[in-house]
Amino acid sequence: MQDDDKRAAADAAVGEIGAGMLIGLGTGSTARFAIDAVGRLVRDGLSIRAVATSDASERQAKALGIEMLDFARVERVDLTIDGADEIDDRCRAIKGAGGAMLREKTVAAASRRMIVIADGSKQVVRLGGVPVPVEILPFACASILKALGGEPVLRLSGGQPYRTDNGNWIADVRYDLDDPAAIARRLDTIPGVLGHGLFLDEVDAAYIACRGVVTRLERSAPSG
Ligand code: A5P
Repeated sequence: MQDDDKRAAADAAVGEIGAGMLIGLGTGSTARFAIDAVGRLVRDGLSIRAVATSDASERQAKALGIEMLDFARVERVDLTIDGADEIDDRCRAIKGAGGAMLREKTVAAASRRMIVIADGSKQVVRLGGVPVPVEILPFACASILKALGGEPVLRLSGGQPYRTDNGNWIADVRYDLDDPAAIARRLDTIPGVLGHGLFLDEVDAAYIACRGVVTRLERSAPSG
């Protein structure tokens, strides 16, 4: 059921892809459905190129015959489609349960439009029900964990620190997100913090599926 909703949100978002576009491919179980759908479009003859936000998504896309570019050589992406761990009605999101939030944010920042796809369980009234993943420089782990505040937990895999595709470690931090922008500003100023999963300005729209019904949420234009 949840997978059906992930697929429904992905299929709806992929409807925004047009011929000739350069697409940003997200990471995670929902993004996988979107990459599958892009693969079908390519198989049916649509000409697009793509960049991936993780090694896993890159492998999946290549296996489906999608032409992949090296993001290091790409200045602008037309449209990025990615999952989220939480999203509120202002299109502010927490990402990074899959550990790819640093690459995801750099691709989102280079994108003319960034769309989140999610099943209804990800939609929240208030951000903060899940920890904020923070990518940290292993060299400075102890001092960064202290500086993070909140309740940081070093993410482990097989008893060892989890390594991102960039070779760094992740702290999952529970914060009171009354003022998420203040937390984001604080994280942005800690030397050795390389990225974090608070996406407060990057997401332009979200396709959220609940029991087969897909709703599109657009970030409202800034007032004034
Ligand atoms: C990857 O690092 C994440 O940002 C994912 O986009 C996010 O965790 C959503 O993943 P699922 O679609 O698997 O829930």
